[in-house]
Amino acid sequence: MRFSVDRLVKAISERRSTRNFTGHPISAEILEALAHTKDLQPLGLASCRTVLLYDPAGFDTVFTGIVGSYGKIRGATAILVLVVPASSGDEGKLEAGFIGEQYVLLATALGVATCWVAGMYHHKTLATHLSLTPDEVIQSIIALGYAESKRDALGILLHTFVRRKKLAEIASPLLLNGPPWLKTALEAVRLAPSAVNLQPWHFDGTPQRVALRATRRAAFTAIDLGIAMAHFALAAENSGMRGAWQQEGNTLVFLPAENPR
Ligand SMILES: Cc1cc2nc3c(=O)[nH]c(=O)nc-3n(C[C@H](O)[C@H](O)[C@H](O)COP(=O)(O)O)c2cc1C
Repeated sequence: MRFSVDRLVKAISERRSTRNFTGHPISAEILEALAHTKDLQPLGLASCRTVLLYDPAGFDTVFTGIVGSYGKIRGATAILVLVVPASSGDEGKLEAGFIGEQYVLLATALGVATCWVAGMYHHKTLATHLSLTPDEVIQSIIALGYAESKRDALGILLHTFVRRKKLAEIASPLLLNGPPWLKTALEAVRLAPSAVNLQPWHFDGTPQRVALRATRRAAFTAIDLGIAMAHFALAAENSGMRGAWQQEGNTLVFLPAENPR
């Protein structure tokens, strides 16, 4: 099944992190669609492969909580593992964020709930479910399954106390007063997931050369930036402005194509 950019962009506003899953099995048809990752666009900074694990018995032994069982992920029957070269550094994290978030949106469009999990899992237990070459590492994982109707306490806490930033906090006035495609792309970034909901991104530059920089340096910042870049590029393309990201030192630059459709 191929998904249109329009459907993935719709999923941006439907998505929210789920930590309580029902434990219901995922049908063979949906699993096949979830395994169909060749449409995911790479950023091109590092290689990143995805491994989809599925077990109808669930993966509760893989997930830990923050403190005791607080914030633990329960009932997820599938996990997407993002694997990168051990030497890939921030580029590997950016790539994993970019590819992984397209996958999150694909899953959302298929009615499958998700949660990025960067720290709260038993690495050794997870590693028994897949084979890695000596020069590969697991960069991050995404829990998948069907969402319980009851929201989880950690999600409520993060949404209440670490609110979503306003557009004016994540982008310069010049960009916010720019063309409509740009505002749409920045709105899409506002809705992106980030570790501990920190939203560590700021955009400036010009509409012809949009610059993205990190506002802090935490362990998962580069993954968060890759996620933001995926939302930005998809929403821009859906508004008729295709473009490409490139890395220039500490700055990530989005260059719109000269001849947008
Ligand atoms: C890279 C990354 C790592 C994350 N790690 C965890 C995690 O270990 N445990 C967890 O419960 N949520 C984790 N999250 C989910 C965030 O807490 C969530 O995206 C954020 O609070 C915003 O909420 P939302 O996704 O519902 O919009 C992670 C998100 C990202 C992007």
